[in-house]
Amino acid sequence: MPQHKQPWPYPEVVAHRGGGTLAPENTIAGFREGVRYGYRAAECDVKLSADNVCFLLHDDTVDRTSNGKAPAAGMSMAQLSQLDAGRWKGAAFAGEALPTLSNVAGYCLAQNMLLNIEIKPCPGRFEETGRLVALEAARLWAGAAVPPLLSSFEIDALRAAKAAAPALPRAFLCEDIPGNWRDILAELDCVALHCDHHALTAELAREVKQAGYQLLCYTVNDPADARRLLAWGVDSLCTDRLDLLPARR
Ligand code: G3P
Ligand code: MG
Repeated sequence: MPQHKQPWPYPEVVAHRGGGTLAPENTIAGFREGVRYGYRAAECDVKLSADNVCFLLHDDTVDRTSNGKAPAAGMSMAQLSQLDAGRWKGAAFAGEALPTLSNVAGYCLAQNMLLNIEIKPCPGRFEETGRLVALEAARLWAGAAVPPLLSSFEIDALRAAKAAAPALPRAFLCEDIPGNWRDILAELDCVALHCDHHALTAELAREVKQAGYQLLCYTVNDPADARRLLAWGVDSLCTDRLDLLPARR
C-alpha cells in the first residue's frame, strides 16, 4: 500500500459470508460461528432493498438462501424481514432473519469483530449502492477503533464509496487479476487487492506486495492452499471453513 495509507489490521483468516458454510450465510447465526471459533474478522455481502436499506444477501434473488422467491431489488426491508433466512441450512437455524447492516454493526462492535463489507449491488444499482453503503457504514462505525473495510467487484460502486466516505478503507475485488490492477488500485485509493486464490501466482503476489498493497485471497478452504498462499506473502485468507483454518493472529 502506498506509504501514506493506514493499513487495515487484517487477521490471517476472515470468515466468508459471516460464518462460512457452518451456518446460513450472511446471517447473525454465521457471525456467532466466527466468535465461537475465535475469528477476529468476517466478510459479508451488502446490497440495497427497494426502500434503500442496506442489508445482507449474496445473490440477486432471495431464492437460494431464504423461503422466498423473488428478485431482492424489488422488495422493501419490511418484506425482506418477513423471510426465514436460516431454515434452508437446517432446522436448527429456522427463523433466522435477513440482517440489516445496522444489525451486523451492532453485533460486530459488541464482539470486537472486524468487518469487510463487500458491496454487492443489485443489477443496475452500482453507484447508489456504493454511495449509500459507504455513508451507512461511516455512520454506524463512527468513532470505532477500526473502521469497516469496503470491497467490491464493481469499480463504479467503489468510486461512489470513495466519493461518499473517503476515509473508509477500500479494496478492489477481482476473480482474475486484471493487467491494469495498479491503475485501478491507485484510482480508487485502495489499501488492498482481494482476489480469487486460483488467479494468484507467487510472482503476482510479490508484485502486489512490492507495490505496497495488502493482499487477501478468497475462498481458501484447504489448509495446504492456505500454507502456500501465506508463504507467498498473502496477508489474509477469506474462508468458509472456520473449523479447518484456525484463527492464530
Ligand atoms: O469478498 C470475497 C468473496 O466474498 C467474493 O465472492 O461471490 O462469495 O461474494 P462472493
Ligand atoms: Mg462476498
